[in-house]
Amino acid sequence: MILVMEKEGALRAKRAAGERAAEMVEDGMVVGLGTGSTVKYAMERLAARQREGVRILGIPTSLQTAIRARDLGIPLTTLDIHPEPDIAIDGADQVDRGKRLIKGRGAALTREKIVAAAAGRLVIVVDRSKMVEGLHGVVPTEVLPFALAPVLASLKTLGAAPVVREGVAKDGPVVSDNGGIIVDAGFGQIRNPEDVERAITLIPGVICTGLFTAYTGKTSVVVGGEKGEARVL
Ligand code: A5P
Repeated sequence: MILVMEKEGALRAKRAAGERAAEMVEDGMVVGLGTGSTVKYAMERLAARQREGVRILGIPTSLQTAIRARDLGIPLTTLDIHPEPDIAIDGADQVDRGKRLIKGRGAALTREKIVAAAAGRLVIVVDRSKMVEGLHGVVPTEVLPFALAPVLASLKTLGAAPVVREGVAKDGPVVSDNGGIIVDAGFGQIRNPEDVERAITLIPGVICTGLFTAYTGKTSVVVGGEKGEARVL
């Protein structure tokens, strides 16, 4: 019973964050649509606002989001047509006080980072459990299959314990929407996230790392609470 209540509270928090973020979108905007269980609520609210007359175009960061958008009736565009989306709404695995992020639990980090970089504003939607004092633990990293072995070795020299992510309902590695392999690079406390992001990104064969440190200046964080409240940082 307590577990059920905790789960309901967590879902309320995600919903509150997602819906609050959707309210930041204005008529006529091109919106980067992140991936995951919190963004889902933002998309549902965006679809409702659309029915009320607000016009938006979405740029999906994953197949999951593209399918959801289609089901919700949110029209989609591409970065080719709209290279500078007005705003992007996305989830995160961890957010520190400086609005630096770890992303990639859902293996969509590369397209998420491309859209985050292109967007005028980045709105991160999280429940309170994602807020941390310092980034730590697993940094998802997308790797070109050809380069897997040398990338694993290089990650070890950076002090990480890298593990190839395995599918849950699939044998073998998780392959991303881009055909990359997802490596979960376990770090301890990450004292200099900018340096670690740069070092991982410089490894030949790394497509993208889930450390996001370059967008703090244009980032708002919407933190949902278990009573359905949301505050914007
Ligand atoms: C997708 O690859 C991730 O970056 C997600 O955006 C992140 O894991 C947050 O997902 P949830 O909102 O489902 O926790």
